[in-house]
Order: sequence, then structure tokens, then C-alpha cells
Amino acid sequence: MDDLRQKYLGAIAEAGDEGALESVRLAALGKKGEISLKMRELGGMSPEERQTAGPALNALKDELTSALAAKKAALADAALNERLAAEWLDVTLPGRTRRQGTIHPVSQVTEEVTAIFADMGFAVAEGPQIETDWYNFDALNIPGHHPARAEMDTFYMHRAEGDNRPPHVLRTHTSPVQIRYMEKHGAPCRIIAPGRVYRADYDQTHTPMFHQVEGLAIDRDISMANLKWVLEEFFSAYFGTKVKTRFRASHFPFTEPSAEVDIQCSWQDGTVKVGEGNDWLEVLGSGMVHPKVLRAGGIDPDQWQGFAFGMGIDRIAMLKYGIPDLRAFFDSDLRWLRHYGFRALEVPSIHAGA
Ligand code: DAH
Repeated sequence: MDDLRQKYLGAIAEAGDEGALESVRLAALGKKGEISLKMRELGGMSPEERQTAGPALNALKDELTSALAAKKAALADAALNERLAAEWLDVTLPGRTRRQGTIHPVSQVTEEVTAIFADMGFAVAEGPQIETDWYNFDALNIPGHHPARAEMDTFYMHRAEGDNRPPHVLRTHTSPVQIRYMEKHGAPCRIIAPGRVYRADYDQTHTPMFHQVEGLAIDRDISMANLKWVLEEFFSAYFGTKVKTRFRASHFPFTEPSAEVDIQCSWQDGTVKVGEGNDWLEVLGSGMVHPKVLRAGGIDPDQWQGFAFGMGIDRIAMLKYGIPDLRAFFDSDLRWLRHYGFRALEVPSIHAGA
């Protein structure tokens, strides 16, 4: 018994890690361990022998069990100390900084435009970018044969072979939102509709996707004078300086009368300045909503009338922030974005420069 005791206490003391300690435990106290086998032998002994061997074996088993537990705790402590010594962090080091992104000029200008029109009571409406030809053309008084369809360089969606319905289009302007809004909300109304539009065109001033903002105001006695006031108010707020406008008679199928609107500017050394000088720059199309368009939107033209306009967002972004090439807007060049982008928390002011 004493030999066993010496043997296993020695082995426990020598075990260098938890694996070795477990082997010792199995050899002594496991199912087929030496001590377990001895305990099984108790059955074959005489009662007298059993009376001395039984308690002695049990005491030995208890002693080894607590020696194993103590050693296990000591090994865990040692392992922890070793890790603490080997692994360390300098918590005083500065963190890794991540470069912040910027707000794209198109997003920034859309916010600015929205804030200015919201101040004049205009709500924001949206429509789908994939549009039916009815909303994009017919409802806006552009029938199938009309040259405006060809002029717009329309992207047509694919139809399955044998499907003879007219194809959907990528909307060529934001004007179809006028129809959708009238259908849903009726008159009176006062909205702007900013968003993406598409035309098959690509050069320094054209990209196949660009942005427009549509305006629509309908009531019982709205006139061209209201249109002119709203636009001058808008441009003056947007450019942060009094901006004169010039209305030139024009033609759009969806307005009658129609006008193209120029803003006052000067050209100096190849750069434009808005709000001064004797030059004019065309920035939008507008007019009084055509009675047929009102009717297509479910509104009675004998009761209601209103104005509409459509303006290029990218265009006015280039003018305000001196960005020379439209194509760069959509190249996703990080250097360009860092240069022309806006800080995330830069709140658009209603009055620029104020
Ligand atoms: N939809 C026209 C375009 O994309 C712009 C336009 C002109 C919109 C006159 C209007 C408008 O609402 O009245 O060229």
C-alpha cells in the first residue's frame, strides 16, 4: 500500500502538464487503474483482511484524488502565468484610423434643392426608374410617332420573343412622376421629384445616367408668374446671391405655353459666375402643364391648372461647385470624391454662403 502511495504521489508531483497528469490519474484511478483493480480484489478477501485493506485503499484513493486536484490547479496557474508573461498589449498605442467617406456632390445638391423647395411648401415624390412607355411618353402627350421619342435616345428593356406589348423603358426624364403623382393624389399639389434618368449619350457634358429634378404645382389659379417667382427664389437661395432669370419661348409636348429658362451669368477666363454679368446660361425647361397631361393624370383641366419644370441636378452641381467634367461624377475615383465630396455631417444650408 505504501509503495503504491509513493509511486503515485511521485508521479503526480512529476507530471509536467495536464496531459501527463491525466495519464497518472487513469493509471491509478481509471476503470482499469491499479488502485481500482485492487479495490475490486476486496471481494475475494476474507472479512478480516477486508477490514484492514478496505479503509486503507479508500484513504489512499481520497489522498490521490485530492493530490490530483491540487496539481491540476497548480498546472493551470502556471499556464496562465506563462501566457500573461508572453502575451501583452500596449493599450497606450493610438488606434488604427479609418478614412471617412464623403457625400457625393449629387447627393449634397439633391439635399440642398430639396431643402429649398421644402421651404416653399413642396413635398418630395418619387417614381420608378424602369417605366412603361405610357408614363414616360404617351401620358405626357408624346405619341408614338412624335420626334421627341427619337430625340431622347431611349434605352428600351427586353421583351420575350413573341411578346408584342410595347417594351418598358429606362425613364428618359423625371416627368412621368408628374402623372403618377396626379393619379394618386389629385389636385391641388406641389411637389418636386428628384432622381436618376437615362439616355444613350456620352461625352463631356452627357452621361447615359444622370439626375433631374422635376417640379409640379397645381391649383385653381396658378400662373407663369408663380413659376417665375418660385424659380428666381430657388436660384437665389441655391447660389446664395440674387439670380435673374430669362424665359425664352420654347416647345415641350407636355406644357403649353413652354419656356426654357436661363440664369444670369458671366464668363471670365473660361469660368462661369452665376448671378452677375451679361451672359445667360440655359438651365431648365418649364411651362404650364398641358390640359392633355392633366387629363392623363385624372385631373380636370377646366378646374385646375399649374406649372411644371425639369432641371438637371448634375448640371447645377457643376455650376455651383466649379466641377468641370460631368463624366467624373460617375467614375468613382476616390481622389475625385475626396476633393469634391462633402463631409458627412455638413448640413445643407437653405441659403448658401449664409
Ligand atoms: N422633361 C424635360 C426633359 O427631360 C424637361 C422638362 C421640360 C420638364 C419642361 C418639365 C417641363 O416639367 O415643363 O428634357
